[in-house]
Amino acid sequence: MVVKKQSLSSSSPWTEKRKYSKIKEIHYSFLKPQLRYALLICVSLSVWFVILRCFLLSSFSSSANSNKKLNVAEKVKTISESSAISRCEGGMSVYLYDMPAEFNKGLLKDCSHLNTYTDMCPHVANSGLGQPLSYMVASAVATTWFATHQFIAEMIFHARMENHPCRTFDPINAKLFYVPFYGGLDASGKFHSANLTERDELAVRLADYLRSKPWWERHHERNPWDLVHNQHGIPYPSYFHPYTSHQMMTWQNRMRQSSRPHLFSFIGGPRKGVEKAAVRDELIKQCSESGRCNLLRCGKGPSKCHDPIEVLKVMSRSQFCLQAPGDSFTRRSTFDSVLAGCIPVFFSPHTVYTQYEWFFPAGDVSAYSVYIDENVLKMGNGTERVVSIEEELLKIEREKVERMRRTVINLMPRLTYAHPNATDFGFQDAVDVALEALWAKRLKVNI
Ligand SMILES: *[C@@H]1O[C@H](CO)[C@@H](O)[C@H](O)[C@H]1NC(C)=O
Ligand SMILES: *[C@@H]1O[C@H](CO)[C@@H](O)[C@H](O)[C@H]1NC(C)=O
Ligand SMILES: *[C@@H]1O[C@H](CO)[C@@H](O)[C@H](O)[C@H]1NC(C)=O
Repeated sequence: MVVKKQSLSSSSPWTEKRKYSKIKEIHYSFLKPQLRYALLICVSLSVWFVILRCFLLSSFSSSANSNKKLNVAEKVKTISESSAISRCEGGMSVYLYDMPAEFNKGLLKDCSHLNTYTDMCPHVANSGLGQPLSYMVASAVATTWFATHQFIAEMIFHARMENHPCRTFDPINAKLFYVPFYGGLDASGKFHSANLTERDELAVRLADYLRSKPWWERHHERNPWDLVHNQHGIPYPSYFHPYTSHQMMTWQNRMRQSSRPHLFSFIGGPRKGVEKAAVRDELIKQCSESGRCNLLRCGKGPSKCHDPIEVLKVMSRSQFCLQAPGDSFTRRSTFDSVLAGCIPVFFSPHTVYTQYEWFFPAGDVSAYSVYIDENVLKMGNGTERVVSIEEELLKIEREKVERMRRTVINLMPRLTYAHPNATDFGFQDAVDVALEALWAKRLKVNI
């Protein structure tokens, strides 16, 4: 298992043939004023539950509010086990509403104005996968690596659903329903608008459209505002979109063998005026003062921290990756760190534990992550001294670290969005996990 650093770096996919031209175009919107960015994130995240909520609408009943938490721990499958959901067992089928293009792909025509801060045109390419990371391609075969934008999951999800083996064209007998509404993209260009009628126009039309469909009206008990039971987060997309389980396993093996000279790393910048992100100042301070931490600091303008290759390079050479809240509690970086086999360190329970119960093992969160309460990183309030992150991480026994890393790397498939053109890839990706959870829920409700 011990790999010489030299051989690792020479086999590293990102050390050669660096071509920055594409990457330089990727300036995420966090270069812009904080409040507006926070709003954008809220809006974009809300889309994810809109998507899923719509999925769920046909299958909820108010009597089904007992214990909904699926025990994902028992469900984290090894990649060799093929999934029941991709074989559509038990009559599972999902219908995609055949909606006017204005609700989804029609919005992309104006991609340069879709987002107030960023030209989204390069990002909406390739069904939302974005621009290929050409230097990650080992051969001339279709690429599986893309500079995927963090707020584009709704497009990728849609593209996956269009090719999903359980898709049915029969709404009368369908068991699950998917509403392909790009609510996040719609909102990201309009949320500034002082004219609220204009801002909400498309969403209002969506509600009218759905109500006009008989299968929407079939079940009347709906409660999308029950946040705990009826709304579920789905992962941010990362950069890897494999076609096959072989590609997935090859990458997992590479991350298992990656040498990790840095105990921990932090990729991020400070946030002014965002209370939940105050911990970032302390993380940046501790990381820059520690000889065991690799700090990739995000500043204004394009920087290495917006380059997917640089991000993966830092994370794949670190044992632990600090995941501080920013404008929102959740963070795309968490999913990047899993992709790089780096054990995430959380400072708020909302970064993952309370958000993604379908995707991360329930119960013992210390199996795959480290939790350091942000209060112990502040002086005062009973704390005599600020806890040292380095000391905390060094306390974890080596064997335990290796066990955690194995768990993280085993989580990789279920947090990945497979290439939408792949149909039979032999593992459960994030879309399959979501469908499976919804299907299990439906069986419980027994409609
Ligand atoms: C998927 O396949 C179709 C048909 O071959 C092609 O037009 C499309 O570009 C492919 N999508 C991606 C994301 O590569
Ligand atoms: C607000 O937008 C609506 C719909 O686009 C439009 O009909 C209305 O005139 C606008 N109101 C104002 C005050 O601009
Ligand atoms: C003080 O510490 C407690 C316990 O750690 C925490 O719940 C509380 O929010 C802290 N108060 C402040 C002002 O940081």
